[in-house]
Amino acid sequence: MAEAPNRRAVLGATAGAVLAGALAAPAGASAVPRDRVTIASPNGRLLVTVRVVDGRLCYQVARNGRNLVALSGLGLDLAGRPSLTGGLVLESARRRTIDETWRPVWGADALVRNQARECVLRTVQPATGIRLDLIVRVFDDGIGFRYRLPAQAGLDTYTVTAERTEFSLQPTARSWSLAAGTDWNADERHYRQARLADVETAQTPLSLATQNDEYIVVHEAALIDYPSMTLAADADRPGTFTSELISLPDGAKAHLEGEFSTPWRALVIGGRPGDLAESHLIENLNEPCALTDTSWISPGTYVGVWWELQRRHTTWTEGPRHGATTERAKRYIDLAREAGARSVLAEGWNTNAGGSWTGQDFLTPRDDFDLPEVLRYARANGVGFIAHNETRGFVDYYEQHLDTIFARYAELGIHAVKTGYATKFVLGGVNRSHFDQEAVRHYQRVVETAARHKIMINAHEAIKPTGLARTYPNMMTGEGVAGMEQHNYKGPLGNPPEQATILPFTRFMGGPADYTPGVLNVTWDPAGLGTRVQTTSAAQLALYSVFFSPLQMLADTPENYDAHPGFAYLRDIPASWDETRFLDCVIGDYTVAARRKGDTWYLGAITDEHDRTLRVPLRFLGRGPYTAEIYSDAADTSWHDNPLPIDVRTRTVRASTVLELRLVAGGGTAIRFRPAPH
Ligand code: NOJ
Ligand code: CA
Repeated sequence: MAEAPNRRAVLGATAGAVLAGALAAPAGASAVPRDRVTIASPNGRLLVTVRVVDGRLCYQVARNGRNLVALSGLGLDLAGRPSLTGGLVLESARRRTIDETWRPVWGADALVRNQARECVLRTVQPATGIRLDLIVRVFDDGIGFRYRLPAQAGLDTYTVTAERTEFSLQPTARSWSLAAGTDWNADERHYRQARLADVETAQTPLSLATQNDEYIVVHEAALIDYPSMTLAADADRPGTFTSELISLPDGAKAHLEGEFSTPWRALVIGGRPGDLAESHLIENLNEPCALTDTSWISPGTYVGVWWELQRRHTTWTEGPRHGATTERAKRYIDLAREAGARSVLAEGWNTNAGGSWTGQDFLTPRDDFDLPEVLRYARANGVGFIAHNETRGFVDYYEQHLDTIFARYAELGIHAVKTGYATKFVLGGVNRSHFDQEAVRHYQRVVETAARHKIMINAHEAIKPTGLARTYPNMMTGEGVAGMEQHNYKGPLGNPPEQATILPFTRFMGGPADYTPGVLNVTWDPAGLGTRVQTTSAAQLALYSVFFSPLQMLADTPENYDAHPGFAYLRDIPASWDETRFLDCVIGDYTVAARRKGDTWYLGAITDEHDRTLRVPLRFLGRGPYTAEIYSDAADTSWHDNPLPIDVRTRTVRASTVLELRLVAGGGTAIRFRPAPH
């Protein structure tokens, strides 16, 4: 966790603000460098070297003197011009130091330190006169670099036809990734483990562990006005990937105007898996908070008419089994009050939701859903309402009416919206990739429009997170993950248990995910779907420490929670934290994570398809005794045959205690530690 540099500054700080900032004076605005510039991390252990080799900008990365990224090419192609992968001359290198500590509105840690060495390299292509800058930042926990096309004559409007950034990595490394895709559900897949040389394409984040036990995540940060980056293997150079941007319908990658900086290409780097999951590098590469008032942004858990729809117990559409009725919504509001949850979702609340999802206006409630009464009852119970906007890909309609819809929600006191873009994405009259430049612009317009109306966003089937929540902290969470709903589908095993041990080091590297954990009655199947949640009940509780989302769902139904002893663990569980530690983790095997809010710690341990016993030293606890409430699989619990029994025990522990956790395959343990009176 980041240290506060100065106690007085911390106490006086407001949420979202930079507390102590030092954008130190340039260490040397150099004249023309030789053809090589080296930038070291603050602790000196990471070194990035940028060179011009045969007219092409290239970089390499070393950690503790060993090469992590071999010489890799850089550059862009612009339509109708010679490629910017050649003919370049390095003109100057300007350095500065960044050191600031900022307080997120919500997050995994209460304070974040952003400390890096930066170098801006200016190049020119003498044959055309085009200027291209490369901005490099080197942190202790990784690196980021981005291209900048400065304002210049002849580049008023231009088109990027390709980005040619290479990542030359260890071919024998173990890796975890999703195949690259342009479809709406490309991120809702299961991570594959493969030797890096066997990976042909990947979405980012792509994560890997080298043979020297170095851990690396390749991702991007601050994805704005530009297409999503995927990775394509170079057939002739095993382990080397080139950026492959998602195309617009016209085949171009990005249409740009004037000065433009691309998103950051980021490598998070560490010596253990926990270094990745604890890193704030992706957020640090984003701009500080752009909102002056963030008082209306409230992280918290939420409940809702959702799992019962997924399990086909009730319906989105109207009729005798319609889920989102006034009465049912009130039942969930009661649950929210009992659970200490902040808000209630009710999918299928508006006219024409469900079925073909056509003809919705997102403002007209169903006849059996009395919106003013639901809002009144929610307010009386201190609970907010999350309006569901499943666009079903009618994005032109959504864009045209967005401001009206959000303005009305603001009048009604609705401060959260769950968006959806299932299956298609019709914008500008054309069905396109959910991840192209225009789609990325759309999601950003939604976030900025929402901010103007004091609305928090939970975006499903949207773009992967790239840390933009630092700048727009109303961008709370999103899908882009094979979440709980996948357990409904027939096929091999819903989400195999190992997936949850991989996600903190892959998908969650970009930011929060609305996985929607917390289904305790894992075998509940009222409609006879023949599917179930593929974990034990105790493992569901452990997920609240393993997965982070500032809008975190308690996904089960009121009736299932009433009947389950595990519900006590979820009551008042935080969704934003003061401190986060990933303790003992082997990606794909098991994960132990602990998160602190105030003086209370929540620890979650999960395993894959294998039984295992873990020894967990409690060194993270403060001084003195703690009462540990331990929710574990019972002696006779088993993932396949008997997943429901939970054993709840209490014991006194200290920082010197080493707990032995016996995990059954597909199982887990969740522990709440509270300081004990002494
Ligand atoms: C898919 C979303 O992921 C899910 O949460 C939602 O219930 C359905 N689409 C309907 O919008
Ligand atoms: Ca989905």
